[in-house]
Amino acid sequence: MTTTITPLIAGNWKMNGMRASLDELTTLAGIMTTGDAPRAVVVICPPATILAAVARQGASSGILAGGQDCHPSAAGPHTGDIAAGMLADAGAQYVIVGHSERRAAYGESDDLVRAKAEAAMGAGLKPIICVGETEAERDAGNAEAVVASQLAGSVPEAAGQHDVVVAYEPVWAIGTGRTPSNDEIAQMHGAIRRLLVDRFGERGATVQILYGGSLKPQNAREILALDNVNGGLVGGASLLAKDFATIISAV
Ligand code: PGA
Repeated sequence: MTTTITPLIAGNWKMNGMRASLDELTTLAGIMTTGDAPRAVVVICPPATILAAVARQGASSGILAGGQDCHPSAAGPHTGDIAAGMLADAGAQYVIVGHSERRAAYGESDDLVRAKAEAAMGAGLKPIICVGETEAERDAGNAEAVVASQLAGSVPEAAGQHDVVVAYEPVWAIGTGRTPSNDEIAQMHGAIRRLLVDRFGERGATVQILYGGSLKPQNAREILALDNVNGGLVGGASLLAKDFATIISAV
């Protein structure tokens, strides 16, 4: 059986973006609506302060909005946190969970990431669940084992009935301009696919597996063409409409 998976290109703006950045979205929409229709689902995950504006403005050009994180609870005394339902209420359809920057800076465990993914699904959002090894783990030959264990711990059982997205982001490739070789990316994505199929059967065969980590206009075409690479999670290169549009059109 061959499965067709619609590619997904998600931009992770991280802690970048003021209201003025909506101009970049206007430029992106302009590029996207003048060329051939994009073959990928396009999502922008801006800071929460401009999420509603991005969702509103993106609607007319087919650009979807996503959050960058959510709390596992629906509401309550969690100063500074944002519930998945609030992101949905602001117009988000996706939310990134378990990004390595949060795993590293806030000690987020697989259990917590899984709880966040469950909260996201409960709120009707599609979680983009991030996994990826550090450079030391890759050097020690443990990259696949680390990613397998993160997947087992971070992807909820309910992913068998819901839409989830997995993003493979080697920590050492994020923001560094370095990437694994094409063979290494294809091997890891193949391993992730096998684990998803083993656990979720046919459903696992349709999960979008994104590559993230220094994905740029220069390398997008070859990386996005690799087996089991169903799109990308783009940090730095998503901040400039022109670069992001080039990556979208590389699909
Ligand atoms: P980068 O970030 O594209 O700037 O490497 C990717 C990410 O952290 O999602």
